[in-house]
Amino acid sequence: MNIAVVGLSHRTAPVEVREKLSISDDHIENSFNLLKANDQVLEVSILSTCNRLEIYALVKNQDLGFSAIKDFLSNHSGLNKDELCPHLFNFNQDEAVNHLMRVAGGLDSLVLGEGQILSQVKKMVRLGQEHNSLGPILNRLLTQAVSTGKRVRSETNLGTGAVSISSAAVELAQLKLGQSLGKDQLISLETEEVAVVGAGRMSRLLLQHLQSKGCSHLTLINRTLKRAQSLAADFPDLTVKCGLLDELDDCLQSSTLLFTSTASDTPIINADRLKQFTREKLLRLIDIGVPRNIASDVSQVSGFEAHDVDDLQEVVARNQEARQEMALEAQGLIDDESRIFLEWWASLEAVPTINRLRSGLEAIRKEELQKALSRMGPDFSARERKVVEALSKGIINKILHTPVTNLRAPQPSPQRKEALKVVESLFNLDVSDK
Ligand SMILES: NC(=O)c1ccc[n+]([C@@H]2O[C@H](COP(=O)([O-])OP(=O)(O)OC[C@H]3O[C@@H](n4cnc5c(N)ncnc54)[C@H](OP(=O)(O)O)[C@@H]3O)[C@@H](O)[C@H]2O)c1
Repeated sequence: MNIAVVGLSHRTAPVEVREKLSISDDHIENSFNLLKANDQVLEVSILSTCNRLEIYALVKNQDLGFSAIKDFLSNHSGLNKDELCPHLFNFNQDEAVNHLMRVAGGLDSLVLGEGQILSQVKKMVRLGQEHNSLGPILNRLLTQAVSTGKRVRSETNLGTGAVSISSAAVELAQLKLGQSLGKDQLISLETEEVAVVGAGRMSRLLLQHLQSKGCSHLTLINRTLKRAQSLAADFPDLTVKCGLLDELDDCLQSSTLLFTSTASDTPIINADRLKQFTREKLLRLIDIGVPRNIASDVSQVSGFEAHDVDDLQEVVARNQEARQEMALEAQGLIDDESRIFLEWWASLEAVPTINRLRSGLEAIRKEELQKALSRMGPDFSARERKVVEALSKGIINKILHTPVTNLRAPQPSPQRKEALKVVESLFNLDVSDK
């Protein structure tokens, strides 16, 4: 059995490919069913975020497992394998485990150390458990990845500072504004007419960062008004005009900076929609949605300048050097956690022998106890019987403790196999079902 991961991320594929692979919550059940239908796949989990789609699986055979997952991804995206495979990565065993720990720790994120990925890994665990697609191995791996992510955030400097895709998007707006004024620096947004489309988690972070970068008022539009109003209420120092999506055209007319962060599957702004406006001042559109909320054809329309998540690289690169050093600090912790998981997994090879040994000794204990109790006759009270039974169990557990600990202790596989053989032979254990 092998742990395999096949996927793609902002490192290996542009947003126009990533958006074809993304799996929405509505399609997750069907995706699990399709993957589990392949007899190579024993356990499976899916991580689908704006910057990555990764499928982790416990597979019988590494190459056949990789191939099964690639077939699924090709069918799901509608891309044939020749188009898709150059964008995919695959890792096996130790590398797959280490990769997941890095992802959970934010070390593989576009914005190094960002916090949202940890909630997305937690969601991956929840979905896997709800859809019964996890078994003991992936369940343990994923749970350990979540605690690794938490450790990275609490025990290293990487988690400090509010970094997210949203903060990078606000920085990109500041940078572009600066560049338009001939300055290579981040400019305050106080003079901008800002609009935000969408009122979910990413929009909340957008509002937070916009406020901290000088924005004092903005328009917030959303599919449902109530959610926009409830988000606005959490920012009492920001003047927020809330509206519905049908007010989007007003925003496109009057704003100078507009962010989109909705979970819509299809673009909500395209070139046709923008062509009706004659703008004197440029409108900067920054789209952090994946799939994209703004179609790529808008770049043809004058008066508008559009950016998507891939354009965030520009600001991210500016901060990356300092964060890289912090990432090194986190990598040590990630290596430790990966080793602990792999040792746990390796120790499982001792479990069948330990179980046989336990049941062999338990059968002897019961038999001998029965003999002794029948010799004692009816004068032996129920309380005394219990004491003798507990004594026999205690002796067996004490005898087993050291060999079981030694058999499960970290050690090279050939050495463990040799020790298991010795135990099986000394205790004459029946290994016919091995
Ligand atoms: N979460 C992250 O870490 C992260 C990072 C980077 C980018 N993104 C991307 O950012 C976008 C928003 O993510 P999120 O985490 O903020 O999502 P979220 O908390 O689930 O919020 C989703 C938002 O999208 C709106 N929405 C959903 N379907 C829509 C549709 N068909 N048409 C118009 N609006 C729709 C929702 O409106 P209602 O309130 O009416 O439901 C809500 O405002 C997604 O494309 C995501 O891939 C997310």
